[in-house]
Amino acid sequence: MKTLVIYDSWYDNTAEIARAIGRGLAGRVDVVKVRAATNLDIRGYDLMIVGSPTHGGLPTPLIQEFLDSLVAPDALSHTRVAAFDTRVAMRWVKLFGFAANRIAEQLEAKGGEPTVAPEGFYARGKAGPLRAGEVERAAHWAQTVAQTINRLEKV
Ligand SMILES: Cc1cc2nc3c(=O)[nH]c(=O)nc-3n(C[C@H](O)[C@H](O)[C@H](O)COP(=O)(O)O)c2cc1C
Repeated sequence: MKTLVIYDSWYDNTAEIARAIGRGLAGRVDVVKVRAATNLDIRGYDLMIVGSPTHGGLPTPLIQEFLDSLVAPDALSHTRVAAFDTRVAMRWVKLFGFAANRIAEQLEAKGGEPTVAPEGFYARGKAGPLRAGEVERAAHWAQTVAQTINRLEKV
């Protein structure tokens, strides 16, 4: 399996989660920061995982630009997709929703085949650090994505 993990990160917490997700997956995995993805050929990946810090309930502008650059409705046909974000655990932020849900909706609208539900990983504050255990949880989440794909391929 060939996987692209594409992410944005202002304070490096999402980058740390993206790297942990990369480590959790077997096969070839490219973990790429969105700024470096302008000339990236997204064809040829079996799985694309997109992650962003949550900013006002949304992905960052660079992740949004990347999502916009994927041509609907079939840019991601034959590509499995999954989405994650980082977020803080304050009660008020729930009002805005979270980036991963918005990313997942858009990946599916571009023809991506969903795998697992969007997932959020928690930072202790705006600049982090990540809460204890989140890096391990991210690697485990990646394994769940891979297992889900294996199961889908058997049916
Ligand atoms: C401009 C801005 C807006 C934010 N808005 C939210 C929000 O709506 N909900 C939330 O849970 N966290 C919010 N946060 C906190 C981010 O989730 C946190 O900075 C991020 O997870 C850290 O990831 P990074 O180190 O990869 O940038 C916001 C942070 C910034 C800088």
